Amino acid sequence: MTLDEKLSLVHGYFGASLKGAPPPMNATPPKEALGGAGYVPGVSRLGVPALQESDASLGVANGGNMRPGDQATALPSGLATASTWNPQLAHDGGAMIGTEAHAKGFNVLLAGGVNLARDPRNGRNFEYLGEDTLLAGVMAGESIAGIQSRHVISTVKHFAINDQETGRMTLSSDIDEKAMRETDLLAFEIAIERGKPGAVMCSYNRINGEYGCENDFLLNKVLKGDWAYPGWVMSDWGGVHSTVKAAMGGLDQESAHTFDKQDFFGAPLKAAVESGQVPMARLDDMAGRILHSMYAVGVVEHPPVKRDIDKAAHAAVAQKVAEEGAVLLKNEGGLLPLAAQAKSIAVIGAHADVGVLSGAGSSQVISYGGSALELPGKGAFGGLFKIVYHASSPMKAIAAAAPGAKVSFSGGQDIAAAVAAAKQAEVAIVFAEQWQTEIQDAPNLSLPDGQDALIAAVAAANPRTIVVLQTGNPVLMPWLSNVGAVLEVWYPGQRGGEAIANILFGKVNPSGKLPISFPQSEAQLPRPKIPGSELKFVLFGGNDPLFSVPYPEGSEVGYRGFEARGQKPLFPFGHGLSYTHFTYGGLKVAGGETLKVSFTLTNAGAREGMEVAQVYATPPGQQRRLIGWKKVALKPGETRKVEVSADPRLLAEYDVKAPGWRVSAGDYAVAVGASSADLRLNGASRVTATLLKP
Ligand code: BGC
Repeated sequence: MTLDEKLSLVHGYFGASLKGAPPPMNATPPKEALGGAGYVPGVSRLGVPALQESDASLGVANGGNMRPGDQATALPSGLATASTWNPQLAHDGGAMIGTEAHAKGFNVLLAGGVNLARDPRNGRNFEYLGEDTLLAGVMAGESIAGIQSRHVISTVKHFAINDQETGRMTLSSDIDEKAMRETDLLAFEIAIERGKPGAVMCSYNRINGEYGCENDFLLNKVLKGDWAYPGWVMSDWGGVHSTVKAAMGGLDQESAHTFDKQDFFGAPLKAAVESGQVPMARLDDMAGRILHSMYAVGVVEHPPVKRDIDKAAHAAVAQKVAEEGAVLLKNEGGLLPLAAQAKSIAVIGAHADVGVLSGAGSSQVISYGGSALELPGKGAFGGLFKIVYHASSPMKAIAAAAPGAKVSFSGGQDIAAAVAAAKQAEVAIVFAEQWQTEIQDAPNLSLPDGQDALIAAVAAANPRTIVVLQTGNPVLMPWLSNVGAVLEVWYPGQRGGEAIANILFGKVNPSGKLPISFPQSEAQLPRPKIPGSELKFVLFGGNDPLFSVPYPEGSEVGYRGFEARGQKPLFPFGHGLSYTHFTYGGLKVAGGETLKVSFTLTNAGAREGMEVAQVYATPPGQQRRLIGWKKVALKPGETRKVEVSADPRLLAEYDVKAPGWRVSAGDYAVAVGASSADLRLNGASRVTATLLKP
């Protein structure tokens, strides 16, 4: 390849037009660009195709400026996928997105978000997969593998510790190496091992003072060194801050250069290579890594082919994820499932007459059939995005499930009207919502817009009140003891309405489990106030204030932190109810180099159902953590043997000096159960000492 050909591969364009944005962000995209988030010209002389990139956390994204008029299948949010604890469904969702991308002409998807939920107010948690390293890593890896099975490259993102949106362009995530390796980095490592993503997207934030996209430690030492990652590192949009430092720090490709303060990998990189500041060997490596992934994933031999999409089959995937990802948090006295013979139902709130809520930002998908409703976004940056409701009406699906019932709807703004409707009905279903978007965090853990008062008033009027939550994060529930049932459906995607009705009426037995702890208050969090929340930020490229986000919880993220601090959450990690019940027995724990655990699981109820049986271990001197799980489908009375073997890195502590994963010799307690707090079986075994390489 000529110098210019190599340089052109490492220099990306924004693929759509950002009219109204300040120059140069409003630049006209190259005419070959398909209108996704990114475009990198190919080398036609050598048969190397262009990279056509689209966002794709939850479907082939097409919100905002992206290809107006386009539609795609909208999966439920990442937290819903994580709540299924079903790796096959994560794979199926990925394969669905990959198929649509391929049929729309894209060969790179900006998917695979695996940042850990260190803060339950992070505005992007809905795109990610929760607070646990193993669960998030496995589910992200499966979704990436699904995408790439369709010859479309997937990223894994945002590398790394990009765990809040407030001040994301300038904050420094300050965290020691041991804690980082044991949590967020291990989630990336597991996702990369399982999914083999063609690219890694480095993050906006700084990590211990160094920007993610010029972070020698993360990119060169950990990713390309310790993990021997063969693919390429692409920058997040507007995440590049230098030429030589970034190229030598491990960045292989500048994405959408008009988003950066200046063009760093265009003419300046050419000059740096010509002057020898960036050796030609490094440029060869950068271009070589991109080509490696293109051939490894098959984008050259199997280029995208524009073709029809099997929308019904894809909608069915979205519905299945919504059904398995809904978490039944509370169900007092068997209020749910509802009987199809119900006579009158009051449906209240959250535009449940027309649709279901979606999260916003670069992941926005406008689903097939078009949105039911689009409202202006809220919050400091919220105005950049719309509040989109997919056209899947829970109310209509409820009416179809209870054909003889009188189903009323009230919007919820008028509390008196909602109360009057609830009083007249056999059962009241309040839909509550929390809209979240990229770029801003939730200001607190409370449901916004007076919805707590609405729920409390409806619950006082009708003891048979069910709350359906559509949220991007955990929320507080001051009314919890007064309602009969609570179903968390996250953002349930374009078949959310049907999925909700199927669960409410028992056509589907809920099997989702929380991938994130629900706190009782902000005071329980390691950072009760969001760092930087008092500062002012601009969108891209401004001179935003530099500030630090400390991570005092270190390795003890989420439920591990709650346990370490002796706090009881509102709902624990792993919690989720079913319409049947399961019993556990016959625990056997074998030790040695790792832990091998087996036990039996029985469906002791009268309905068919699925249980997510979770295995936790407490290595000596450490906090308990998830080491494995199995999701098992059982008929009434059926018993199955379950076996789980631990990845030894989950038993180890990361020894920075050695360096490596140090498994200590000793007795390891093992607990098996239905959630991190509902442990039914206890055992232990001796594990031998080992040191595994980083
Ligand atoms: C987001 C990325 C996204 C990119 C392109 C950025 O603002 O952080 O997740 O892939 O934009 O849209």
